[in-house]
Amino acid sequence: MPLVIAIDGPAASGKGTLAKRLADHYGLPHLDTGLLYRAVALALLDAGLSLDDREAAARAAEALDPEKLDDPRLRERAMGEAASRVSAVPEVRAGLLLWQRRFAADPQGAVLDGRDIGTVVCPEAEVKLFITASSEERARRRHRELAGRGETASFAAILADIEARDARDAGRAAAPLRMAGDAVRLDTTELDADAAFDEARGIVERTR
Ligand code: C5P
Repeated sequence: MPLVIAIDGPAASGKGTLAKRLADHYGLPHLDTGLLYRAVALALLDAGLSLDDREAAARAAEALDPEKLDDPRLRERAMGEAASRVSAVPEVRAGLLLWQRRFAADPQGAVLDGRDIGTVVCPEAEVKLFITASSEERARRRHRELAGRGETASFAAILADIEARDARDAGRAAAPLRMAGDAVRLDTTELDADAAFDEARGIVERTR
């Protein structure tokens, strides 16, 4: 059976880095599903439309070209916030679901990371990880990452961003962020990227 690894968790928990490393290690294609929601938000902003225009958001999700997720603006801090707003629209989620499922059905297997991979997109995934870290540690990581890219923002502003995003992602009605019943929780607060990878690989080996 192809190995599908579903990775969920809140913003800046380290799930993206971990997903990439697991994908490299097992030779699997990787999809960062947050980029899809960011791309929907960017399409609205580029067209001069409001992020609260639900119909336009649904159309943007429908029209999205998932092969074009390399715009560097997708990774900006403001786009995470914008993505979190459009991702609460059920039609946006429905528009992106099929494509994510097709990606996961690759005969080789796949690694997907996001908020609802283990619960909605790939409920049958062989391995499910739920990655967490304290909000302060996540804010420290995001602060470092943004500084590395020359984006300046205060630690306090980033922490507030992260806490607002957690509340919105966990509190929405459509596919809220929650751990799947059969997922394994991995808290990376005290772990660096190498240690988190070792732990995650151990979980994969024990589960499959
Ligand atoms: O992971 P990332 O920070 O790029 O995600 C941006 C936003 O997209 C999240 O805050 C969340 O609201 C939304 N998202 C989602 N479901 C996913 C991935 C991301 O709702 N599977």
